[in-house]
Amino acid sequence: MTSEQIIEITSKHTYGTWRYQKGWKPLHIVDAEGCYFTDASGKKYLDFSAQLMCSNLGHKNKAVIKAIADQAEKLSFIAPGFTTDVRAELSKLLLEFLPKGLEKFYFSTSGTEANEAAIKIARMYTGKHKIISRYNSYHGSTAASIAATGDPRRWAVEPSGKIDGVIFAPECNCYRCPLGHNYPDCNIACADYIEHMIKNEGNVAAVMIEPVVGTNGVLVPPKEYLPKLRKICDDNNVLLIADEVMSGWGRTGQWFAVDNWGIKPDILTTAKGITSAYVPLGLTATSMKIADFFDDHYFAHGHTYEAHPLTLAPAIAAIKEFKRLDLIKQAAEKGIYLKEKLEELRTRHPSIGDVRGIGLFWAVEIVKNEESKLPFNTKEDKIKGSQLMVDKVTSEMMKHGVYMQGWISHFVIAPPLIISEDQIDLAIEVLDSALTIVDSELS
Ligand SMILES: Cc1ncc(COP(=O)(O)O)c(C=O)c1O
Repeated sequence: MTSEQIIEITSKHTYGTWRYQKGWKPLHIVDAEGCYFTDASGKKYLDFSAQLMCSNLGHKNKAVIKAIADQAEKLSFIAPGFTTDVRAELSKLLLEFLPKGLEKFYFSTSGTEANEAAIKIARMYTGKHKIISRYNSYHGSTAASIAATGDPRRWAVEPSGKIDGVIFAPECNCYRCPLGHNYPDCNIACADYIEHMIKNEGNVAAVMIEPVVGTNGVLVPPKEYLPKLRKICDDNNVLLIADEVMSGWGRTGQWFAVDNWGIKPDILTTAKGITSAYVPLGLTATSMKIADFFDDHYFAHGHTYEAHPLTLAPAIAAIKEFKRLDLIKQAAEKGIYLKEKLEELRTRHPSIGDVRGIGLFWAVEIVKNEESKLPFNTKEDKIKGSQLMVDKVTSEMMKHGVYMQGWISHFVIAPPLIISEDQIDLAIEVLDSALTIVDSELS
């Protein structure tokens, strides 16, 4: 088949995600190695967002590929009622690297499913119904996880495509405080607001958060926020669920984002970087206290592909690679370099309203006016399918061989953790030049 035929069949017979289907003509990708991927014409792109913030080890990691091949030869599949070498080995590794106190694991095949399980477990364990999530968040696409999603991807499925019982709190966003406060004078009022909700709603099972919000802006909370929220949950007998689907596995310069503040969630979910996206694996990890409840209460959950050996073997290899290559430390160190470069960009472009992040996880937010912080586009624009300013910039960057994710009015910069300083320089140079498009449209 020619590349044109491949694109034609793909757009006609397969769904493109989160978009109107009309006019979808995906780029045909044929190869990927390290921090680069290659299209059918042979053009190479430097990956400045690790695809969907998931290819943490980069592409063609030999150890992960070997683990998949070896496991396929040995035992490709066995029903989840049995155990396997890899199930036990991965469990041991998780005990070593997950935040302490998370000791029982449910393996699925996506971040969405990991959150679906977390919500069900929280409700069954507490016997309570309501889940508090926050507006600027994404937790997945099936009924429970989209219900817990605060961003506008939820709007289109309301009310029939989602579960009930999820209520939304204001996010922690010091650049655009939803409560109109300024840090540190605010005394972390956004956390107090959650306590107010818990006390006045009643029947709250859990608070579900991305410790560092991902797609919705790489929102890094101030140091007081998560410890305060942990205490609020404890004081009110509510579980804390940390969604580390995007923020886990070295992304923030620690194994998990909660490690930056020494927080221990009751339930942690993750996916993406756990295998560095070589195969789909989701993980829901709980404390033993929660796990013990299910010793004599029916655990009403499961999938055919739960603990699928072909997903577990590469996770073991990926975690060992993170360790061997010292990538967690490197993410923290290269993050400092990236931060400097982004701060420099900010001085050159009046359209940059904010630069924020941690480790190799950064957002550059563009605004029409620095003082009023007026964004270029809104959530409504996104859902209407309008062409966004961030899309213009990312398309321009693709022309110059750099791939980067944009969302509503900011960019999400989250390269593979193996990226070099030279590659960071190259991507920044292309971003620098593409941002002139935005500067020229300033009011
Ligand atoms: C924080 C967060 N949670 C959950 C998900 C859903 O994960 P998946 O796409 O693997 O279902 C995502 C995906 O981007 C995410 O970023």
